[in-house]
Amino acid sequence: MEIIEKAPAKINLGLDVLYKRDDGYHELEMIMASIDLADRLTFQPIREEKIIIETNSGFLPTDRKNNIFQAIEAMKKHYNFPGGIHVELHKNIPVAAGLGGGSSDAAATFRGVNRLFSLNATLEDLTQLAIPIGTDIPFCLQGNTALVTGLGEIVTPLTNPIPQCWVVLVKPKISVSTPRVFSKIEAESLSHPNIEKLKASIEKNDYSEMTQYLGNSLEDYTTAKFPVVQHIKDKMIQFGADASVMSGSGPTVIGLCDKYSRALHVANSLKGFCQEVYVVRTLNK
Ligand code: C5P
Repeated sequence: MEIIEKAPAKINLGLDVLYKRDDGYHELEMIMASIDLADRLTFQPIREEKIIIETNSGFLPTDRKNNIFQAIEAMKKHYNFPGGIHVELHKNIPVAAGLGGGSSDAAATFRGVNRLFSLNATLEDLTQLAIPIGTDIPFCLQGNTALVTGLGEIVTPLTNPIPQCWVVLVKPKISVSTPRVFSKIEAESLSHPNIEKLKASIEKNDYSEMTQYLGNSLEDYTTAKFPVVQHIKDKMIQFGADASVMSGSGPTVIGLCDKYSRALHVANSLKGFCQEVYVVRTLNK
């Protein structure tokens, strides 16, 4: 018996940092959307009380540091299913990129273990177990396009998904640590995208209005520290993208195009400059 789950990447069309809380976490307002770039996870029950993770990625830990491991442990502790689990992780999403790959793998694990042992856990049950592991996992459990607030745990699906378009992803060869970015920013001095207008434009299915309201409060810090991120943003517009914005805490920059030919042109033009370039579709359920 084996169960296969897809784990789609997410992009932040908008990310606003509202303020820093007393516990050090930040109150956020975000619009997130799933995209057609996904990891694939295969789950098999095994007799031994073990969690075994095999992956094609050379970068990832396969022990307790991995979100998949933590998700299985949380499910085991709560539901006490028999034996262990073998996971095969086929990684397609770039690691530490601002695309939610680790969170989406964890979400796929919650769904997969739920199916594997017919645990009948609800979305709410899985969300509660997911929050301590990572604040992007609640969105990844639902996917599609959503307003995400609180620390990331309050997920409100939009009445319309993101308008169909092409997304160019460019990841420069730098590593950005999310905890470090959040520890360095001063919420008061950041720019604040208009999430309300962004949400309204998506719900009206107005692609061109949506492109005017993309924005990310974390860009100020990451572009100052890594000028290459600003450079990629500028190049995307120069080569014809309708809008560009950094995803999450970076360093991946996304460019939106309504035509495939233009997305290909933007991607090909940036390939000489950056190795990791993808052209993907938005994922509309
Ligand atoms: O939840 P996740 O592991 O993705 O968060 C990584 C780090 O980002 C946290 O340890 C915290 O430092 C920071 N963070 C924050 N406010 C949030 C979400 C994350 O300060 N709402």
